[in-house]
Amino acid sequence: MSWLHDFMLPHQASTTAAGYDILFMFITGLAIFFFVIVAGMLGLFVLRYRRRGPDEVTPHITHNFRLELVWSIIPLLLVIVIFFWGFHGFMTAQIAPGESMEISVTAKKWQWEFEYPDGMRSLNELHVPVNQNVRIILTSQDVIHSFYVPAFRVKKDAVPGRYTELWFNAVDPGTYQLFCAEYCGKGHSDMLGKIVVESKEGYERWLKEGDEQLKSMPLPELGHLIWENRGCATCHSLTGERGQGPSWKGIWGEDHPMTDGTTQHVDENYVRESILYPQKHIRVGYEGIMPTYQGLLRDREILGVIAYIKSLK
Ligand code: CUA
Repeated sequence: MSWLHDFMLPHQASTTAAGYDILFMFITGLAIFFFVIVAGMLGLFVLRYRRRGPDEVTPHITHNFRLELVWSIIPLLLVIVIFFWGFHGFMTAQIAPGESMEISVTAKKWQWEFEYPDGMRSLNELHVPVNQNVRIILTSQDVIHSFYVPAFRVKKDAVPGRYTELWFNAVDPGTYQLFCAEYCGKGHSDMLGKIVVESKEGYERWLKEGDEQLKSMPLPELGHLIWENRGCATCHSLTGERGQGPSWKGIWGEDHPMTDGTTQHVDENYVRESILYPQKHIRVGYEGIMPTYQGLLRDREILGVIAYIKSLK
């Protein structure tokens, strides 16, 4: 039956996935079983008991007590089984085991921000160690988003002004897709993230080496990496095409009119200000929808973005 599972459901990448799938397949199988019986009998009866002539009179049948008991008691038992089975799984999913590592997740239009126990942060890419209970504490900065990882069989809304939580224990190293599963505006379908499950050593190395890689990479290359991984790509194109924000192509050295009536020259200071205080100057024709990157980008990363924009002729 494993081919059927692979065809119908995503990879089981967490400790709880198999339990969900068995219940899901049980309910699906049950539904198919009863559909076939009901539809089959319907067809059969239409043929068998059809009216055969104008003189045929329908016999007078009121009810059949035994039959009614059977079709009441069997479904009742089945839904009771489904209820307790589902309730058990629900409780397991609701309550994170003690000894869980805690990661805070902030959703905002249109990106995911992760904060690890040691204060390290990342955007749109969550790294977790394999075989480790991870408790996710969710909130949102603007509207309702939803944290959805099909491979882990977890989904929970991120609600502004409130904390919600979920937990998982990833069992298989690899990269898994994170979706936003609640319509949250223009960039909803772009609000994607990656979950990288790696060995304990790999995870610790990543926490540290993020920085080492940063230190050695040429600035424009680093800038491109940030554009790709930190959510810039959602709104800023590299082709000159207009997005939710201005394209980065060819803007270096230009003068742009702002909604407050001033004109800003695109140079190092302007780019830096736009990253850290995006609401300060909004270019005419655009909305002030960009979140601040204060505390999210190190100095060298900002320099990288500046160098990268400079290189986009
Ligand atoms: Cu965030 Cu949809």
